[in-house]
Formats: sequence, structure tokens, C-alpha cells
Amino acid sequence: MTTTTTRPRSYLVRTMGCQMNVHDSERLAGMLEAAGYVPAATDALAEERARAGDTLAEGADIVVLNTCSVRENAADRLFGNLGQLASIKRGRPGMQIAVGGCLAQHLRDGIVERAPWVDVVFGTHNLDVLPALLDRARHNAAAQVEIEEALKVFPSTLPSKRESAYAAWVSISVGCNNTCTFCIVPTLRGKERDRRPPDVLAEIEAVVAQGAIEVTLLGQNVNSYGVSFGDRGAFAKLLATAGRTPGLERLRFTSPHPAAFTDDVIAAMATTPTVMPQLHMPLQSGSDRILRAMRRSYRSQRFLGILERVRQAIPHAAITTDIIVGFPGETEEDFADTLRVVSEARFASAFTFKYSPRPGTPAADLPDQVPDDVVAERYGRLIELQERISTEENQRQVGTTVDVLVAEGGGRKDGDTARVTGRAADNRLVHVALPAHVGPEEAPRPGDMVRAEVTHGAPFHLLADSGLRGGTFEVRRTRAGDAWQRARDGAHDHGGAAGAGGTVRLGMPRVR
Ligand code: 5AD
Ligand code: SF4
Repeated sequence: MTTTTTRPRSYLVRTMGCQMNVHDSERLAGMLEAAGYVPAATDALAEERARAGDTLAEGADIVVLNTCSVRENAADRLFGNLGQLASIKRGRPGMQIAVGGCLAQHLRDGIVERAPWVDVVFGTHNLDVLPALLDRARHNAAAQVEIEEALKVFPSTLPSKRESAYAAWVSISVGCNNTCTFCIVPTLRGKERDRRPPDVLAEIEAVVAQGAIEVTLLGQNVNSYGVSFGDRGAFAKLLATAGRTPGLERLRFTSPHPAAFTDDVIAAMATTPTVMPQLHMPLQSGSDRILRAMRRSYRSQRFLGILERVRQAIPHAAITTDIIVGFPGETEEDFADTLRVVSEARFASAFTFKYSPRPGTPAADLPDQVPDDVVAERYGRLIELQERISTEENQRQVGTTVDVLVAEGGGRKDGDTARVTGRAADNRLVHVALPAHVGPEEAPRPGDMVRAEVTHGAPFHLLADSGLRGGTFEVRRTRAGDAWQRARDGAHDHGGAAGAGGTVRLGMPRVR
């Protein structure tokens, strides 16, 4: 790395958007560190403000924005952030700004045309070029824009700086071969590329060796995994094999597609104890007419049939979903179908989206866009229904014993009750009360497991306060907790970890 100062140059990666981006950002950070950059010191307040949408440079020499184009007004927000960075850069000679991710892939040269103070623009297919482009921009004193149409280097082969010591994302594929008419992912992430099982398994072993006890396999459509190398059963086999990795306690995956979801996957889930009783299965709409218009090839009956078979095999599975309200042409009757399927499906929770046209997708050009007020009204009804179901389903958990993998930063004070926060096996968010006798030495660390009994079910979380009444409260210290402690003791700032089992989202932002 070329540098004009004696101190190492510092970097900050700001991530917008979905889990794919969060994962890509781990690679960006890893590559920058391999190239000799060091993380910029950020304080907790700055982290907080950044999560609220601000982009703070906080003394960084290099600021990388890993962008998302799924959110509405994404471009306006990006240029707003770049405007803030321009004034910081004016006061700090030598500072560099890089923009990557989906919006960069989409806007390309348009970014430096509108924001000429940007130094580097790179796309979703060529994360690996970032350090070289930074060098080149510095050397040539000119902006460098490099976008590839297809994936050159599988990001998983790049160095990585993982966000969490105890939970890791491992990507099994990137891109998507489907053509859902509302979705920008195929345009921006390209055709599906599958990693070979031995590479995936080796990465799982490596992250487990570093202390992770939970792994989430990532792909836009995990069920089509293997088609590209001629093995349609590859995903079920991968689950079963990965699930036997020594030291791995929890295996999750996201996202499946109802059209390609086959019973061998259900069987692998049911017979592999480390595969958690949880499934995120995007419904999108309960109307068969709308599903057809979305170019999603399953129908609502098939969808409900899958849920039934999953629940037969895994009775305590918590099933979650994605639903879009107000797809072009959606009538009141279509929407009633969505409400009906939602009532029958009894999702533990649902991510609900108002349809929003993405330029370049087929649905964006459809004539009968649904008026905003109609969408808003339907959206309200859907949320109300799902909240009622989520509350009922969560209340049904009262009295059950949950094993909670404690997450980072989740501890919250509730009156004089100290609680830690984490995810149950079925991925429900649980706040667990610490009994008064548990001192700081015995308290569970992020990455440790706590067993307690559920005492209350709210729409979006459970309380497990049994320990307060002398009931179940057991802490199991884990390798992951040890790894977390080592990381904390070894470094003062790791730049805000996401937390174990944090909500995993593909194609849509996790912060809304
Ligand atoms: N409008 C609204 N929601 C969308 N999603 C994807 N594209 C759009 C869009 N154009 C939602 C889908 C998908 C989730 C990740 O984001 O529900 O499953
Ligand atoms: Fe692929 Fe999912 Fe987008 Fe459909 S919604 S095109 S399956 S990424």
C-alpha cells in the first residue's frame, strides 16, 4: 500500500441494505485490513447515529459506502450522505470516498457525475478491486469507476473480517436465476453462481474453529443450489453434512423459494439436530393471479402444503415470511386472498412491504399501479392481522423452556430487572431476566447459552423471566462466549457487531 503518512490509514465501511451487503462488507473490511488499513475509531454515539441513517466519517481516511437499491429513495439518500462527506473531505486532505454495492452497480458513472468528489465506484461483482482502485485513484488523482457485468471472484474467497465472534454467515450462492417481476436482485446480482460443497464446508469449519457456534447459510434461492453443477439434491445434502460439523450448534439458512422447495430439504431439517426449527418462506402474495403476475410459479395451495409438511416433520418450527402489498393490478379480492392465506399459515412473524416500483423491473412498467392510499389501507389491515397472529403464537410459547444464544448489546434494563437478549432455537427474539444472585462473573456473555422458561409473549418478542422466581435459569458458557471475550479483551473496538441470530434479510434492508 502506498501511503504518504507514517501512521496507517484508517477505514470505515458503512453498510446499507440486506444481509448480502452486511456479508460483503465483512469482505471489504477484511481486504482493507489485509492491505494495511486499520479500522477507524468510532464511538458508540456515532454508531447509533449511523444506524439512524447518517453517514459519519468519524476521522476515517477511507470511507466506503456499501449501498442498497431496494429501499425507496435510495439514490437520494446516497447523494445526501455523499454531500455530508464532501464537506468533511474538504477539511481533510487525502481522505478517500468509495461507493460499492447494488446502487453503485446500478448508477455506475452517474455517481461521480453527480458527486465528483467520490474517488472510487465498484460494483457487486468485483469487491476484490477495492484496494487497488483506492491506490489507483490516489496515484492518478482521478476517480476510478469499475463495474463488472458478471462475477469474477467469488466473494467468499476474499479475506474477511467477521462481524460476530459467535454467529457467522456463509454464502453458498450469489445471484438468482428467477425473474420475479418486482425484484431488482437478478439485474444487480446476476445469474446464480453456486459454490462447491467442499468450499462451503471448509469455510464452515474455519468459522467454527474461530469460535462461531451458529452458522447461517446464505443464498437468494437456496433451493436451486446445486442445479448449476448437476445435483438437484445438493442443498439437502449440504444441510445434513454441514450440520455434522464438530463444534457447530446451530445451523440456519435463508432464503428458500416455495417453487423449488422439496421434501428432501424438510427431511434433512428434521433429521439433522443442529438445523434449527425455523423456516423463512417468502409468500409475497396469497392471490394466485398476482403470483402469476409476479412470475412466481407456485400457487397458494402449494405454499400451504409445504408449511403443513414442515410442521408435520418439525412440530415446533417457527415459520416466517415476506409479503408485498399492492403489487400492480392487486384488487380487493386478491388482497383478501392474501389475508386468508396469512390466517391459515399462522406465521410466527412476517416482513411486510408496500410494493414499490424498481426502475428496470418488469412490474415497474405495468399500467395498473395501485394508488398509495389503497396500498396504505391494505397494509394496515395486513399488519393488524399478522400482529394478532404473532401475539397469539408468542403467547402459546409461555411455559415452554427456551435455549437462548445471547446476542451482543442486547442487555436492557427493564425497571430494576436486568435482562440479556438473544434468539431461541426457532429464532424468536427473547429477553431473559438475570436473577439478582447472578453477578457479573457468572452473567452470560454474548455467545453463551441461557436456558429459561417463557413467561410472556408480546408481538415481537418473548420474555423469559423464570429465573426471577427461582425457576429455570441455567447459563452454559460456550466456546463462542470465550471467543467473544478474547475479541473484546484483545481489541478495544470492533466496530459494532450485529449480534447472534440477528434478523437475516436478503434483497431488502434489515434496518427499516
Ligand atoms: N417492492 C416491495 N417489496 C419488495 N421486495 C423485493 N422487491 C420489492 C419491491 N419492488 C421484498 C420481497 C422480498 C423481500 C426481500 O423484499 O418481499 O422477499
Ligand atoms: Fe430471485 Fe428472490 Fe428476487 Fe425472486 S424475489 S428474483 S427469487 S431474489
